[in-house]
Amino acid sequence: MSQISLPSPLDMHVHLRQDDMLHHVTPYTAQQFVGAVCMPNTLPPVDSMKRYDAYVAEIKAAAAPLEFEPYVPLFLRPDYTREELEPAVDRLFGAKLYPAGVTTNSEGGVKEVEKLEPVLDLLQDLGIPLLVHGETDGYSPDREREFLAVYDHFAKTFPKLRITMEHITCADTVDFLEKHDNVFATVTLHHLLYTLDDVLGGLFNPFLFCKPICKSAKDRDALQALVLSGHPKVMFGSDSAPHTEVMKRTEGMAGCFTAPVLLPMLAEFFEDNDALDKLEPFVCDRAREIYPRIRVPERNVVLENTEWTVPPRYGSVVPINPGDRLRWQVV
Ligand code: DOR
Ligand code: ZN
Repeated sequence: MSQISLPSPLDMHVHLRQDDMLHHVTPYTAQQFVGAVCMPNTLPPVDSMKRYDAYVAEIKAAAAPLEFEPYVPLFLRPDYTREELEPAVDRLFGAKLYPAGVTTNSEGGVKEVEKLEPVLDLLQDLGIPLLVHGETDGYSPDREREFLAVYDHFAKTFPKLRITMEHITCADTVDFLEKHDNVFATVTLHHLLYTLDDVLGGLFNPFLFCKPICKSAKDRDALQALVLSGHPKVMFGSDSAPHTEVMKRTEGMAGCFTAPVLLPMLAEFFEDNDALDKLEPFVCDRAREIYPRIRVPERNVVLENTEWTVPPRYGSVVPINPGDRLRWQVV
């Protein structure tokens, strides 16, 4: 039997929600990863240090007895002050920009990105990284591409601000990554594997519907080439985003629940591309290089090649690809 042992893997973009859902889904992430960037678009959003501390404590409790480190970016508001952020600088991981209305629970996001300059200047000055959901409110397949002008402006205006383009999906974004030294990216499992045709080319698959939407084969191939190259500015961030089956089917909520299948499916992807040696850099090393200040618990996560079948649901939540046979299993 072969095994893959990963030293302290990290998921640099996940949604854990709040209350019962948080307690239900956190263990799937904590079993496979020793830490994760836990997004602040909860109800209500994590937009104060008081909520931040409570959220971190709740996630750690939900992951126990496993040691698990949540890295939480504050939900960015244009009016954060130096008095609020400076005392928290040692424990604050970052700030996450959601343009208003572009995705789940982003109604309270930023309405005018042009007005963010004072707060971005403050983040730059305090050394707090900026994480971004980079989409406009334009035609959905073009939203990420249209947002590149905003990234360009931010990166030029604030050259010392570290900017992570979250869950990138397009070939143009892959090219853009080379343009500024202070711009980095996360890539999800689902955007690496699927195109818009997988979502709605046949019968609509609500469990692959997410934002940003999966794009063309050309875009997916560009993402694959980027990740398989072991690019130093690119790290893994799953964007696993649980919604109940009822909410997916009746309200059309965006988000793919991938947490339970992440490392098995990533191992398959790298193995199928003769690049198993690139799995560890992607899920373990890049995040620590890009965010040198994070505290990373030491734990090896081991996969072995024993087949298993993805169950139809995890409680009220349907994962991507229920019923699929996977070759690798987390021990
Ligand atoms: O599909 C998505 N779901 N994209 C996001 O940006 C947010 C996420 C969620 O919170 O459900
Ligand atoms: Zn997300």
